[in-house]
Amino acid sequence: MKFIAVRNYEEMSHLAAKFLIKQVLHKPSSVLGLATGSTPTGTYENVIEDHRKNQTSYEQVQTVNLDEYVGLTPTDPTSYRYFMENNLFQHIDIKAKNTHIPNGKANDLQAECSRYEQLLRELGVDIQLLGIGRNGHIGFNEPGTSFQTKTHVIELAESTRKANARFFDSLEQVPNSAITMGIDSILQSKEIILLASGKNKANAIKQLASEQIDKFFPASALHQHPNVTVIADREALTFCDNTEKLQTV
Ligand code: F6R
Repeated sequence: MKFIAVRNYEEMSHLAAKFLIKQVLHKPSSVLGLATGSTPTGTYENVIEDHRKNQTSYEQVQTVNLDEYVGLTPTDPTSYRYFMENNLFQHIDIKAKNTHIPNGKANDLQAECSRYEQLLRELGVDIQLLGIGRNGHIGFNEPGTSFQTKTHVIELAESTRKANARFFDSLEQVPNSAITMGIDSILQSKEIILLASGKNKANAIKQLASEQIDKFFPASALHQHPNVTVIADREALTFCDNTEKLQTV
């Protein structure tokens, strides 16, 4: 696992976008694994800006998202489908049929999980973007989730519901469950970029840098993957003592 230290959110976003753009320029039919939340929005802004300025094309690109809340329609402003449309898809030349997100409104959620996992295997993800939860979750794989998991339905930790309540009118409106790629699904990606910005991620990044593999710290599963880059800003690296491992930009 390689750590790259950046100064702030802007630098993190700029660098993360460079990884995605480089991937697409190298292979125009790339499969990009994408995340939602506060962390990647700046990355998507940089991708959009580059698309406008340099005409990087996403016509042949396919995307797969990590997760979606159970029970929300794609037109619900708090759904991850809505988030992705607004923050990225509408602003680049990607084809709607090439953007994949689990269907949180499926009648048969188990069948939807199997369908999504099958799709991931068929497409093969070239590069997966990840944020990290304060409790170390990746996707919505909460502490204690087996590292062997494929796409599945998960009950959200109360701390995650509270952390995400800022996107809803009230905590009660935050769904109790979600469909998420499993930890094993994530580990199948050829390359993984994990982003972390801000003091509230500092404990999680300290634990990740300790290199201890622990089922109750899901992001530690990434130590089992050969090609992971963590891009973290100064605040997220506050408690990180392994500074000799850091590459700075
Ligand atoms: C989002 C996702 C989550 C977030 C994590 C951090 O698709 O899977 O793991 O990456 O909860 O969220 P933010 O970026 O809002 O701090």
